[in-house]
Amino acid sequence: RFKAVIFDLDGVITDTAHYHYLAWKRLADSVDAPFDEAFNEQLKGVDRMGSLDLILARAPRTYTPEEKRALADAKNTHYQELIATMTPDDLLPGALRALEEVRAAGLHIGLASVSRNAFTVLDRLGIRDRFDDVVDAATIVNGKPDPEIFLTAAAHLGVDPGDCLGVEDAAAGVASIKDAGMFAVGVGSPDVLHRADRVIPSMEAFRLQDY
Ligand code: G6P
Ligand code: MG
Repeated sequence: RFKAVIFDLDGVITDTAHYHYLAWKRLADSVDAPFDEAFNEQLKGVDRMGSLDLILARAPRTYTPEEKRALADAKNTHYQELIATMTPDDLLPGALRALEEVRAAGLHIGLASVSRNAFTVLDRLGIRDRFDDVVDAATIVNGKPDPEIFLTAAAHLGVDPGDCLGVEDAAAGVASIKDAGMFAVGVGSPDVLHRADRVIPSMEAFRLQDY
């Protein structure tokens, strides 16, 4: 039925969503902005400056562009410290099996992450060569929830969006997949991922033939 599967990275292939959470939490605390798991849910899948803007909108004062750049750099430095020790053991349960299942079915495999650290994470996990195409986040003008990144991945793979299945853990990511005209499998809670065509609790439940 499908010709390609396009995966998100953070929170789907590996639990870097938790590292992003820790790094943003420390930054939010430093600017006295309230931060909890529910608010963090809105940041998932959103690019670095977009996430920072959402956090600073809740801070008691405003920030200059220079200050914002420094804050974004500080968050990224902390995040890079957290991912520096990652190994192939940090693949989420079921993620590798899902990649193998898609490969065995003869479908194309793409990666659509707005993270500018995606290549580093793939290398630490030892799985970069399992993807036919990895979209370079630096080339994307409009991050998720805009469909641009999933449409770009489909174009790189030479597949019509309607023949693609996208896999996402974030509400913004599911919106990106759906507005690209693709079938969406959400990984997480149906309450958060209500626009997905299917929601599975974890990648261990991913079954290509079910979709
Ligand atoms: C992914 C994550 C977000 C993160 C974004 C940018 O979409 O889900 O939490 O903010 O990438 O990541 P970066 O590594 O470029 O700061
Ligand atoms: Mg994600």
